[in-house]
Amino acid sequence: MKTILIAITAIVLLSSCYYDKEENLYGATCDTGAVTYNASIVPVLASNCISCHGGAFPSGNIKLDTYTDVRTAALNGKLYGSIAHSSGFIAMPQNAAPLSNCTISKFRIWINNGAPNN
Ligand code: HEC
Repeated sequence: MKTILIAITAIVLLSSCYYDKEENLYGATCDTGAVTYNASIVPVLASNCISCHGGAFPSGNIKLDTYTDVRTAALNGKLYGSIAHSSGFIAMPQNAAPLSNCTISKFRIWINNGAPNN
């Protein structure tokens, strides 16, 4: 009985340690200090979104290949709602894994700053 209790305690302690570690790792690697349109937003759109949301016939009639178009989607809430998988929005990128929490945070910061062209 004692052994089982010790084992359970050890598992609980070990798993909480693991959780702490992940939190630290995330905080250390997600640099949200200097978020800009050109450095933080454009590369993500280019590699995850433009294939469907660029050119003459963009999916869902949402264009994301010029600043003006991205700004429109940012300010009407659709850009953030779709990548954050908020209810009421269509989850993006379509048929792919969600963007990382760190990337989504950067979009939130940029949009909250007024979606500047910087
Ligand atoms: C494989 C193609 C594809 C990719 C990649 C893709 N989308 Fe979409 N997206 C679509 C389609 C198709 C629709 C329209 C869906 C519909 O109307 O049912 C859409 C709709 C949207 C909408 C409108 C959502 C709404 O709720 O009205 C936004 C905003 C959007 N996409 C942003 C993005 C962003 C940002 C990315 C990259 C992170 C992305 N999409 C990647 C295909 C794609």
